[in-house]
Amino acid sequence: MDTLLLGDTTEDIKLAADIIKKGGLVAFPTETVYGLGANALNRDAVRKIYEAKGRPSDNPMIVHLSSANDILTVTRNVTEDMKKLMDNFWPGPMTMVVPRLKSVPDVTTGGLDTVGIRVPSNETACKLILFSGCPIAAPSANLSGKPSPTRFEHVKQDMMGRVDAIIKGTDSDIGIESSVIDMTSDNPVILRPGKITKSMFESVLGKEVFLDSSLLSANFKEKPKAPGMKYRHYAPNAKMYIYDGERDKVETAIELEKSRLESLGKKVCVMIFEDREESASEVAKQLFSKLREADDNSCDVILASAIPTKELGFSVMNRMLKAAGNNVIKIV
Ligand code: TXA
Ligand code: MG
Repeated sequence: MDTLLLGDTTEDIKLAADIIKKGGLVAFPTETVYGLGANALNRDAVRKIYEAKGRPSDNPMIVHLSSANDILTVTRNVTEDMKKLMDNFWPGPMTMVVPRLKSVPDVTTGGLDTVGIRVPSNETACKLILFSGCPIAAPSANLSGKPSPTRFEHVKQDMMGRVDAIIKGTDSDIGIESSVIDMTSDNPVILRPGKITKSMFESVLGKEVFLDSSLLSANFKEKPKAPGMKYRHYAPNAKMYIYDGERDKVETAIELEKSRLESLGKKVCVMIFEDREESASEVAKQLFSKLREADDNSCDVILASAIPTKELGFSVMNRMLKAAGNNVIKIV
């Protein structure tokens, strides 16, 4: 299929909205990562997203709204806790999982009785949803198994010829996907960590927020790596290893391993990240782009340094661990 490349002028966004209204697919920028959108209430349109991504059809999608006022188009009951989160974190990088209305089709929620909803802060994204006049279901606009796209070029790489249009916006400001929080019970659970962290949720809700158990076992600092628990998801083609330990020792170990691998004829990509909590937002912004670069350069191996797992750093490490299939090398 021909893919229309659009800018982010109002005129272009209106063209894109017409495509959504007619049941087509449009990739668009958001502050987290680029999304691949379709009318969330149109089964056939949503089905095309799975095809374009090459994604299993039981994976639930996030439904994007242009304003928190539209929440009653997808769910019935807004609790006090939900209201607090909406007031504090929307528009922005937070997805709430809530009970769904039946008007949201099974294909959008992967057959679940819940729906993930988010109001993005990116202006182009908001205009697109507003002009389309419907909630927009949108997973990240990457081919299944590739890192989420944070730049227009990434989306073109993956989606040219597979979608009706791509809107060229600015690079994604945050660079990792939204925090997903399950609000279907009185005990909120973070399903995917992101820019909005556990402590941020807790200070707004005034109560404990839990981490889904999968996040704990993926966090090598909390628990030892379970053998055989390989979860390659945001996976580069290169095999990735994360070096964790004292900074100078980590750098030395990476240099040594790089030389060893190069002497065997391997192409090695090194990613040394700043070892400061304050640098996490910069790492978040660059990570997926660097992973794609490593693939573009046909690297065989990526050797990366761990970053401090406080606050946003925890969320960024979660993505790094997934990319590395939990391959962590402890340097003592
Ligand atoms: O930042 C983002 O969230 C981006 C932009 C485009 O908004 N979207 C995104 O979508 O990352 P996707 O499909 O790549 O990831 C959605 C995540 C998945 O992990 C999915 O399992 C979870 O949200 N999710 C969505 N709906 C859910 C539901 N009803 N229950 C549990 N998890 C859900
Ligand atoms: Mg995704």
